[in-house]
Amino acid sequence: MAGGGVVNTGKGKEYPGKLTLFVFLTCIVAATGGLIFGYDIGISGGVTSMDSFLMKFFPEVLAKEKADKSTNQYCKFDSQLLTSFTSSLYLAALIASFFASSVTRAFGRKWSMLGGGLTFLVGSALNGAAVNVLMLILGRILLGIGVGFANQSVPLYLSEMAPARLRGMLNIGFQLMITVGILAANFINYGTAKIKGGWGWRVSLALAAVPACVISLGALFLPDTPNSLIERGHSEEAKQMLRRIRGTDDIDEEYNDLVAASQESKLVKHPWSNIIKRKYRPQLTMTILIPFFQQITGINVIMFYAPVLFKTIGFGSEASLMSAVISGLVNVFATFVSIFTVDKLGRRKLFLQGGIQMIICQIIVGTLIAIKFGTSGEASLSKAYAAFVVLFICAYVAGFAWSWGPLGWLVPSEIFPLEIRSAGQSINVSVNMLFTFVIAQAFLSMLCHMKFGLFYFFAGWVVIMTIFIALFLPETKNVPIEEMILVWKAHWFWGKFIADDDIHVKPAV
Ligand code: BGC
Repeated sequence: MAGGGVVNTGKGKEYPGKLTLFVFLTCIVAATGGLIFGYDIGISGGVTSMDSFLMKFFPEVLAKEKADKSTNQYCKFDSQLLTSFTSSLYLAALIASFFASSVTRAFGRKWSMLGGGLTFLVGSALNGAAVNVLMLILGRILLGIGVGFANQSVPLYLSEMAPARLRGMLNIGFQLMITVGILAANFINYGTAKIKGGWGWRVSLALAAVPACVISLGALFLPDTPNSLIERGHSEEAKQMLRRIRGTDDIDEEYNDLVAASQESKLVKHPWSNIIKRKYRPQLTMTILIPFFQQITGINVIMFYAPVLFKTIGFGSEASLMSAVISGLVNVFATFVSIFTVDKLGRRKLFLQGGIQMIICQIIVGTLIAIKFGTSGEASLSKAYAAFVVLFICAYVAGFAWSWGPLGWLVPSEIFPLEIRSAGQSINVSVNMLFTFVIAQAFLSMLCHMKFGLFYFFAGWVVIMTIFIALFLPETKNVPIEEMILVWKAHWFWGKFIADDDIHVKPAV
């Protein structure tokens, strides 16, 4: 089969060691870095739909929204100002992740996490206490910087800490925490929207301090990864750490691979100019395309706009919020499917199955909406019909939650050699944030112009990305992270980009 499926490379070479309680706990603590990102994804939509919030900061938006009497459900009132406030966070994260790259490489992964958590904490305080738009925007920028640092360092940390055969499972803890953050935010908005007196939004924004404290305190106690310790010249500490996290003294083989990777890494003074070298073309391509594809699945249309979307198809306010909570729950629980299968079935099977499920669901949802709303955008749906739409939206969310969601963070974090891993991860974060921003910004006008065709548009992209994975992504399950180059070398297409003397790790015997 083209694409090679399972590639016989580092496979078969398995380092001794077991899943120790220590590594399990450190990974859980590090994964909580996902909470701050998830909380933000979930909180802003709800807050910007609270009248009291709009009245205080964006009174002209509120006035125009109230004056909008259009019955065309596709073309709802759209304020670029308001959405740009929401998505400014993603631009800040985009830029911050480049700075995070140097911190993560020079000082270790944990300091980036701590820095991310603390900046996010200050941002949430500013937002909760905001008395003017300036405070609000400054707060958003600090939140964005926090997310940029956390998303840059946490996936790397998890992939380096985990034993190869459980790397997928432990890394997906990050995505799990993202989904928990989104769900928690949905519940909180549901509650604070009911607060009389018009300060509910303050509670929503200030509660971001809770996940910020969790990751900041956690990062203080986290040990650094052996890979990063060796890279920074602490060989003895690295050896001890490796023994501790693998629960055995028999770590020489893994240690030697890490040292070889670190020697290679020392030769690279400028990761940014190195990453464009021909030999890194496969990883560079993936770290640009995977986050782009992840966003162009259209998932954040559901994450940001679920209540609006459900209201559009005829649910009342309460029922819309309830449906958003339901899709949030599906998002959390479906993530467990990938946690338990990713190291057995592999990344490719999940990508392909999840992709096909998403395509089918998007076509069905688009068609259900086309039948009732046509192109005029005017209709009312029966309860049963609307419930049917929600059902397929949930099946779509589930497909994402065990494929592109977790794998969009896992795969880029595990495919790079040490010397450019940190730079590669920054590119992953920035592309992800850029397209999160673009979709958040463009969705309402796209819906107005493309109507139900928007669902077909996203489905078309999922077709392309599914074919791309089938052809170009080699299987990376169970392969030790510092031996990943062997996987690329064995791939039918990417193999020719890597010369024999680019390989400095010993292949499996
Ligand atoms: C994506 C987010 C998305 C979330 C949904 C993450 O992997 O990066 O953009 O909102 O999954 O659970």
